[in-house]
Amino acid sequence: MYPLRRNRRLRTNESIRSLVRETIISPQDFIVPLFIVEGNNVKEEIASMPGYFRYSLDLLEKEVRELWNLGLRSVLLFVKVPDNLKDNAGTEALNKDGLMQRAVKMVKNVAPEMVVMTDVALDPYSSYGHDGVVAEGKILNDDTTAILAEMALSHAKAGADFVAPSDMMDGRIFEIRTLLEDEGFHETGIMSYSAKYASAFYGPFRDALDSAPGFGDKKTYQMDPSNREEAIRETLMDIDEGADIVMVKPGLCYLDIVREIKNAVNVPVAVYQVSGEYAMIKAAAEKGWLDHDAVILEQLTAIKRAGASMIASYFAKDAVKLIS
Ligand code: PBG
Repeated sequence: MYPLRRNRRLRTNESIRSLVRETIISPQDFIVPLFIVEGNNVKEEIASMPGYFRYSLDLLEKEVRELWNLGLRSVLLFVKVPDNLKDNAGTEALNKDGLMQRAVKMVKNVAPEMVVMTDVALDPYSSYGHDGVVAEGKILNDDTTAILAEMALSHAKAGADFVAPSDMMDGRIFEIRTLLEDEGFHETGIMSYSAKYASAFYGPFRDALDSAPGFGDKKTYQMDPSNREEAIRETLMDIDEGADIVMVKPGLCYLDIVREIKNAVNVPVAVYQVSGEYAMIKAAAEKGWLDHDAVILEQLTAIKRAGASMIASYFAKDAVKLIS
């Protein structure tokens, strides 16, 4: 009872505060999303993501070395596909010499111990910009999961450590796990985007990959932001189907979900701090309205405190430099 118990004693100075600190972010917590394009010597800044770039493979090599030297140990690869290679079924996604497949090999070659995760979804390859095959204005579930399984297998063959399905079709984890097992890829893991919401925070990412849906929206497959119980159901199903790591996405607006899922499951929980979250901080900092570095560390710490075992973040490099 006060004054015998004074909470401020434990906040007296930085040494005491660091002794009692409950959440500490470190380089190993991060997954670094990387945007990759065809070409040579390409490093293009994404307009709605200042300070973030698309790289051609030659320049990506340098970037990967830098990430490794900073202590970052995991990357998540996304490719921007030229329009002439897009079709309804995302055929290019299965090309064994496609950009993604070459990127996986390159990263493994440059940094063999780097955990390489690949995005498994049709939208960058789809002429409709949807995460599934389209027929009569609808997104077909089972036709899509069959393709996603082949796509995951192709990434596994290229050397991916984890495939990361970000599409939200039903049953895709089961389809992917089954095919990987059948083909002998027992060690290839699955990080499932289990509770992925139909969020307006993905806008800048769709600019980065030119992958905005050509019609409608993604609400028939991504989750309604109003729902909490559904996130638990989605996540438990993905674990049953064979997911090694589950994910909540986006981050900041969904930290209640992160904590619920953390309490409900016993597999690692990843959180994706998405492109719109990055853009908001950049824009406010550009205007001088927020302290960029302090806000980044505060948000990342909050995500970890909520229950994230790992965080996919466009701020990974910034954060690592700030905490080192
Ligand atoms: C698509 C995909 C999206 C993101 C990752 N994979 C966008 C979407 O669902 O439209 C968003 C990531 C971000 O905004 O940073 N499969």
